[in-house]
Amino acid sequence: MEPLRYGIVGAGFVTGFHLRALEQVRGIEVAGITSRTPPHELAASARDRGLGPCTVYDSVAEMATEVDVVCIFNPNHVRVEVMEQLAGSGAQLRGLVCEKPLARNLAEAKRVNDLAKQIGAPTAYFENQIHMGLVQVARTQLADVASAMGPLALARSNEEHAGPHNAWFWDPTLQGGGVLSDMGCHCLAVGWYLLTPAGKPPRHLEPVSVSADIGLLKWGQPHWRQQLLDRYGVDYSKTPAEDFATGIVTYRDPDTGQTSKAQFTVSWMYDKQGLRLLVDGIGPGYALEANTLRSPLEIFIGDEAATAVADAELALEKATASRGLLAIQPNEPDLYGYVDEHRDALAAFQRGVSAFLDFDYGVEIVRLTMAAYRSAEERRVIDLSDTAELAALDEYVPLIQQGRGAQVLTP
Ligand SMILES: NC(=O)c1ccc[n+]([C@@H]2O[C@H](COP(=O)([O-])OP(=O)(O)OC[C@H]3O[C@@H](n4cnc5c(N)ncnc54)[C@H](O)[C@@H]3O)[C@@H](O)[C@H]2O)c1
Repeated sequence: MEPLRYGIVGAGFVTGFHLRALEQVRGIEVAGITSRTPPHELAASARDRGLGPCTVYDSVAEMATEVDVVCIFNPNHVRVEVMEQLAGSGAQLRGLVCEKPLARNLAEAKRVNDLAKQIGAPTAYFENQIHMGLVQVARTQLADVASAMGPLALARSNEEHAGPHNAWFWDPTLQGGGVLSDMGCHCLAVGWYLLTPAGKPPRHLEPVSVSADIGLLKWGQPHWRQQLLDRYGVDYSKTPAEDFATGIVTYRDPDTGQTSKAQFTVSWMYDKQGLRLLVDGIGPGYALEANTLRSPLEIFIGDEAATAVADAELALEKATASRGLLAIQPNEPDLYGYVDEHRDALAAFQRGVSAFLDFDYGVEIVRLTMAAYRSAEERRVIDLSDTAELAALDEYVPLIQQGRGAQVLTP
């Protein structure tokens, strides 16, 4: 079978991760790439690794007519712009892929989804964590137990690190908010999925209500605020974003009427070795738990040897230390589910259908994220069965995203 030809938009951090994942996937060729600054070095590296010709294009529209699938891996504030360029290109695509989040708010997410339908290509919303082997294997292992005893009643999902790597992530008007927009989308998806009974589609459980709380616990303090200003030119005394968020989503199973809850916690103030994903689930008489900071491989580097370490991130995404006891994950693209999300998209697009998680699903994750912001902003539980509340969410843009975060965040 002919390989599926990818054209990638954006050549930053996540594209690097995806290229490492694609080294482990057969049947996909990286045919092209386009980015704001021409990514010749990354393209050459992709070619050296045998990933495909990886031709550098000047524009999204130019690339789109030369590839089968367009992967949107650039910043959140240009989602609609990229989709409009694709729709205007007249390209006949076999697939559209979009990294999380689908957009910054519901109006944008719906526009992205409408444009995808106009283009007429199957879609894949890339939420890598649902494809993580440890999530999938836990569900497979527990499928019989859950069917005998009942499904998980409580899922908890955390994603934390010490803060993003590029200025636009910290700017709430560009990124969509702070850590809730950036990483809450992962945890909302994972919690929902963990509670979903085996064999049911990812949107089977109905979200009933959302309550959330947010804070600016570290990066609003004068020392850290100054560091943000010096390093990224972002001023959290004027346009702050949250560096901590937590909340609970309540779900109802439409088949059984059973209620379950997913709790999420995300932060950009986790000053430990590096990125930590933590999930657990509690069912009647059984449980699961996973922590990506635990690895069978540990390395210790003492102070005298520390000068030999060139790059802390060789050990782990968002690593903050290059000495001491380091947690090492040798194959992060696989651990975090990037490899399997490409395999899933490939299998689906070859059949002419959307992936396990499509753009419609991406819109629902944005809806939950907006409900969480609104809950935190207005200090109340958001009732998702209330049609007036849902209509208001469609238009809602969080104060933090508007650059008015000082009204809701006190450092
Ligand atoms: N799944 C995950 O865990 C994960 C991790 C990191 C990032 N992401 C997502 O991936 C996306 C990109 O994040 P990143 O970390 O790679 O960001 P980044 O800042 O490292 O890279 C962004 C890239 O996009 C390019 N770019 C900027 N504006 C552009 C435009 N208008 N048109 C074309 N290219 C443009 C930049 O030049 C750069 O190459 C974001 O949506 C982010 O949420 C997901």
